[in-house]
Amino acid sequence: MNRNKEFAELLSITRKFLEQERDMGIKEFMQQGDEKRAESGALDDLAMKIKDCQNCKLGRTRTNLVFGAGNPKAELMFVGEGPGFDEDLSGIPFVGKAGQLLTKIIESIELTREEVYISNIVKCHPMRDPTHPEMRGNDRPPTQDEVAQCLPILFKQIGIIEPKIICTLGSPATRALLNLSEGIGKLRGKFYDFYPPYGKFGEPIKVIPTYHPAYLLRDPTRKREVWEDMKKIKKAMTSISPH
Ligand code: URA
Repeated sequence: MNRNKEFAELLSITRKFLEQERDMGIKEFMQQGDEKRAESGALDDLAMKIKDCQNCKLGRTRTNLVFGAGNPKAELMFVGEGPGFDEDLSGIPFVGKAGQLLTKIIESIELTREEVYISNIVKCHPMRDPTHPEMRGNDRPPTQDEVAQCLPILFKQIGIIEPKIICTLGSPATRALLNLSEGIGKLRGKFYDFYPPYGKFGEPIKVIPTYHPAYLLRDPTRKREVWEDMKKIKKAMTSISPH
């Protein structure tokens, strides 16, 4: 993508974000000078501001908004697609079967869930049949509009946390951050530059896509590739200087 187009897209995302903030009644913005205000405080503030979000129809059917969990100063962040049944009930990301596998993946590089930060591109449970929220297996990928409405929240989380590395889990999360059209099989295992529209302008964050743990549950033969990707992350974490 040429720089002008990239810049225009960045502007349009930023405009959308600012409009949402205005619609939510937010009049103050965090400045660079405020950054030593504890990140957890800033994340808590953000969580408070969006707790009643009704920007898309997922807000009407959720039990809990699933904001994110983990270390607000994490160097490594994982981004999934959206909450499922268990996450909607608990309000915590990645706690179901796929989540338990993600926990093991994190532990494979000698980290814990508490040391990293985990979130999703949408914060509320997308259901195929929202009239049956009590039903398991009722998940669906978020629509483009749901992602567009929710993405500014993730961008703001990234701006607060300023991780060194973001690992996107699966195609929707990868596409949302990198805007690349290739499939996850092609994109995984490589580092890409992501320029967050919020936080420190001009400093890219390394994004490495890998397979979603739910996909690994369906096709365990792919676990070896994820293991290779995790080893790359571990190596990169020691070589990338802090922001
Ligand atoms: N799948 C996701 O993408 N996110 C979750 O939080 C749970 C399952």
